[in-house]
Amino acid sequence: MITTDLSGRIALVTGGAQGLGEATAHALAAAGANVAVADVQDGRGSKVASSLGTSHAFVHLDVTDDASWDAAIAETMQQLGGLDVVVNNAGLEVTDLIVDLDAAKAMRMIEVNVIGTALGIKHAFRAMQPGGAAGHGGVVVNIASVAATIAFPSIALYSASKSAIDRLTRVAAMESGQLGYGVRVNCVYPGLVANEMGIGLANDVARLGLFASVEEAVTAVVGRTPSGRLATAEDIADAVVFLASDRSKFVNGIGLPVDGGMGM
Ligand SMILES: NC(=O)c1ccc[n+]([C@@H]2O[C@H](COP(=O)([O-])OP(=O)(O)OC[C@H]3O[C@@H](n4cnc5c(N)ncnc54)[C@H](O)[C@@H]3O)[C@@H](O)[C@H]2O)c1
Repeated sequence: MITTDLSGRIALVTGGAQGLGEATAHALAAAGANVAVADVQDGRGSKVASSLGTSHAFVHLDVTDDASWDAAIAETMQQLGGLDVVVNNAGLEVTDLIVDLDAAKAMRMIEVNVIGTALGIKHAFRAMQPGGAAGHGGVVVNIASVAATIAFPSIALYSASKSAIDRLTRVAAMESGQLGYGVRVNCVYPGLVANEMGIGLANDVARLGLFASVEEAVTAVVGRTPSGRLATAEDIADAVVFLASDRSKFVNGIGLPVDGGMGM
């Protein structure tokens, strides 16, 4: 029987020290996977890994650094004994009107969101393809955003970085298929979650005068969402578990909206 049971699978979650990555690490572990929590935040990341139990690990990872990826994959292989799932979740959000664009801040966001995700796909492919360190094929899930599917003022560059993840996902799935890597690649478009990043955005759009207050900004988002609420981190984590599992075994190269219907 095909289930969402991930027993015996090894999953690495980037940006796993907090927010959506932390919730995803918990959901994957609850589904039976052994999880490597990968993040630049060593203290918080280690606490998340410990909270999952003994058959999980923290690995230090800066997603923008090739050598850091090499080390994190090697550490995961050594501590957990394989690699079947990579969730490219680490991301930054910078809010700016286009007329106020700060190139340095935008470049760093693109470096983390786009190059970091691309390097994650690269190292997942290298490890999971036949002859790789893990070698059994597997699954990559990239975390894009509803921002890739709507036009929301003040997040032009963030939206562009998430649209780039969408295209990366589709080309990666094609390369994997054509070159026989045996790795499915999909992405998720999460709706707004009321966490540090999500409420940070609501604060920013109120500060910029696009909405009269933080509450009005949140109400506007909910008003454009058929399901009538913001997303939760668990909503997103559940979708990642589905895409990581054999339940989605013929789902490849897609972007899955998990946004209550807000996206178009
Ligand atoms: N929060 C939302 O409303 C929302 C909505 C849609 C999409 N997303 C996306 O979901 C993902 C997670 O968002 P979140 O809300 O949990 O954000 P968050 O800021 O709470 O967590 C991001 C995590 O990524 C880590 N990180 C940042 N740069 C890194 C790097 N170079 N290498 C490794 N780790 C790094 C941080 O240390 C942190 O633990 C992001 O890609 C974000 O764009 C979030």
